[in-house]
Amino acid sequence: TKRFDFVVVANRLPVDRVTGEDGKPGWKRSPGGLVSGLEPVMHTQDGAWIGWGGSTDEKIAPFDLDEMRLVPVELSAAEFEQYYEGFANASLWPLYHDVIAPPEFHRAWWDAYVRVNQRFAKAAAATAADKAVVWVHDYQLQLVPAMLRDLRPDVKIGFFNHIPFPPYEIFAQLPWRRRILEGLLGADLIGFQRPYDTANFLRAVRRKIGTTARHGMVKVPGTDGGEGRIAKAQSFPISIDSQSLAELAADPDVQRRAAEIRTELGDPRVLMLGVDRMDYTKGIRHRLKAFGELMDDGDLTVPDVTLVQIATPSRERLEYYKQIRTDVELAVGRINGEHGELGAAAVHYMHHSYPRREMVAFYLAADVMLVTALRDGMNLVAKEYVATRLDNTGALVLSEFTGAADELRQAILVNPHDIIDLKQSILRAVNIEPREASRRMRSLRRRVSEDDVKHWSHRFLSTLAHVREHP
Ligand code: G6P
Repeated sequence: TKRFDFVVVANRLPVDRVTGEDGKPGWKRSPGGLVSGLEPVMHTQDGAWIGWGGSTDEKIAPFDLDEMRLVPVELSAAEFEQYYEGFANASLWPLYHDVIAPPEFHRAWWDAYVRVNQRFAKAAAATAADKAVVWVHDYQLQLVPAMLRDLRPDVKIGFFNHIPFPPYEIFAQLPWRRRILEGLLGADLIGFQRPYDTANFLRAVRRKIGTTARHGMVKVPGTDGGEGRIAKAQSFPISIDSQSLAELAADPDVQRRAAEIRTELGDPRVLMLGVDRMDYTKGIRHRLKAFGELMDDGDLTVPDVTLVQIATPSRERLEYYKQIRTDVELAVGRINGEHGELGAAAVHYMHHSYPRREMVAFYLAADVMLVTALRDGMNLVAKEYVATRLDNTGALVLSEFTGAADELRQAILVNPHDIIDLKQSILRAVNIEPREASRRMRSLRRRVSEDDVKHWSHRFLSTLAHVREHP
């Protein structure tokens, strides 16, 4: 079988199931930022992507799509529960996001995580050509780097963590903390979003493995006294495909649709927008609390102002996801009950996803974008909003606790836990002088368009190519 010089390993394949015109099931490339960033590399090199196909009851053979080889990894229903819903999303996800929800630890979940990581590592080992570059992604697969190195010492291994890496005091709660660190240290390059995440990781390495890093370089002891290796940790803040978003935003049909959205909403003077996965890390409750209080206080009124909150369904069987959904829906209902009028809701809430074009139309229609996450590795929605504001109008309210806040300094930065601060920031955004808005947005947009996801993958991969192998 064919082997590939460049292999991406991620929990999900970059595709969505679709039904073709003939009624047969097929695949369509999903519009994610990660795929766009890796596309140039996939096409210039021989590229393969290993990931889960999204269902637990069908066996799918490797296939080609858009000049990529896609290699599906299977998950049983029990593995979906224990590896994906359990260890990845009910242990690691809350632990890595400042324990906003309490993480749960179960040995059976951990065992499934080890087993599934081993399966991904094996698939990567079987797919990678001699001396290939293998790039492993995210918290679901932290054991893969070391497992893959065992199987294939000849390949270059990169790892990128898309979510935060927590402070040691929190990470230390994890019963398998040392195993996770050893798993990651199997990579030649370990990438994080922010310098803060890198520092947290290096501190954990110092505390648990006992090695001190210099310039992000960790000496990893060899097994049975053999020669050691170097693993490098560094931050690489991810971005979006700014150009394709700007192209959509320039499309007259999309602009017409944006105008139509405003009309459908009754032509409010100020349209505010929130776009998130339905997740307790996103601060949707805090946002609604601030918005509701501003309505109670009479600082915002219907139909002058309206909030569109799109919350796409996510990990719906998990307890804390059910709870955040209930909380959000209760809050929306209350605000609308108190302040809505016939034909004029205070909050328009949608619990479903929209195609990319429609999302861009929403961004174009919105005067104020609210990103109030309590903790977020990066937050690409903030960058997407900025990338579509071609005329430099609009205001972004952005939580300090997102990776994006490190770069988007000209946003209206806010501490979402501080409801008074949040209310004042929303009002600032609503009442911003056009000249100030334009000055801020121009600078934000320059930042986002100069540094898109293609630069990001290039930076990561060229750093990986130059990591020294030995001390
Ligand atoms: C975050 C993670 C991704 C994940 C995505 C969607 O952005 O960093 O790894 O794919 O959420 O979550 P899901 O559980 O549906 O894959």
